[in-house]
Amino acid sequence: MNQVDYLRISLIDRCNFRCQYCMPEGAELDYLLQQELLSHAELLTLLAEVFIPLGFRKFRLTGGEPLLRPGVVDLVKDIAALPETEDLAMTTNAFLLAKMAQPLYDAGLRRINISLDSLNPDTFDKIIGNRSRSRWKQTWLGIQAAYEVGFNPLKLNVVVIPGVNDGEVLDLAGLTLERNWHVRFIEFMPIGNQALFSENAWIPSEELRHQIRLRWGLEASQVRGNGPADVFKIPGAKGTLGFISQMSECFCDRCNRMRLSADGWLRPCLLNESNQINLKAALRDRVKTSELRSKVSHLLAIKPEINFKQRDSGTTTGIYTRTMSQIGG
Ligand code: GTP
Ligand code: 5AD
Ligand code: SF4
Repeated sequence: MNQVDYLRISLIDRCNFRCQYCMPEGAELDYLLQQELLSHAELLTLLAEVFIPLGFRKFRLTGGEPLLRPGVVDLVKDIAALPETEDLAMTTNAFLLAKMAQPLYDAGLRRINISLDSLNPDTFDKIIGNRSRSRWKQTWLGIQAAYEVGFNPLKLNVVVIPGVNDGEVLDLAGLTLERNWHVRFIEFMPIGNQALFSENAWIPSEELRHQIRLRWGLEASQVRGNGPADVFKIPGAKGTLGFISQMSECFCDRCNRMRLSADGWLRPCLLNESNQINLKAALRDRVKTSELRSKVSHLLAIKPEINFKQRDSGTTTGIYTRTMSQIGG
């Protein structure tokens, strides 16, 4: 059985983007109120008294957009300072990163994954649902800032959508030739904006690898990380290429993670809404942390069975009630 030692922590469900594949129109109407979020102190209590004693050592901060969380730099500092933390990372859209990269690095964050679906500002704005001034440049400046400050590895996530950005696969892969950046292509999943999804809405990673092989060749490689990406590189390139292929291959058998939502629900699997535990409500009801530890420990014990049996039917209805921005990607 895999060791589950990676916790993805959503800090906030809000986002300053509206990526087509992540949020259906109108999703923002359901945003959580400040008092519904797990507080800074509650989160640290859960880490120190529940997750770390159960063996969790790797933490990733996600959103929505984690940089919108008030006090995010202080949270990073406190989580990085826990002696058991072996790896602390963040997944962000980088729109606010130009100014925050240095304070985050100084607080102890060392690695960042950034969504960048297009190098074309118009396509980018179309994907992120922006109708006003272009956001591409500010995002690009955020990526540059993260690189200059020294985040390493620096990964760029691309969700490939046919007819939208699939024509840019070679340009995006080419970013790794001269830069020590790690570009990952993600198969679009029918979660988030299900209305956009159809059988033809995703491209198997192998097709992308085929295009890249024809142009430059491709060899197996490695990069530090805890996620499900298969890693390759263009021969001689400075950075790597990752492929996250949850549609064409099932990687549930190597799943090493759980997810904590911004409002304190612990979810054993991205696709499982039926076996969640409300840790925030329990803390606020003064349930002892030893009791919470037992509940989480039970969930860990049944996780492999839940992954396999409920991968495609994690809900009783087959309709996911939360968007990717609410789950944390
Ligand atoms: P590294 O530690 O850098 O490897 O990070 P990561 O790949 O785990 O993190 P990131 O937030 O960049 O995740 C990239 C994408 O992988 C997510 O947006 C999802 O599309 C996909 N992903 C991550 N975890 C899971 C999972 O448990 N199940 C599925 N189906 N997809 C996942
Ligand atoms: N399918 C695949 N990846 C998605 N993400 C958001 N929604 C989806 C989806 N439906 C990815 C984003 C980001 C990460 C947090 O989640 O691209 O990199
Ligand atoms: Fe926001 Fe990330 Fe979802 Fe885009 S994918 S809307 S940046 S949470």
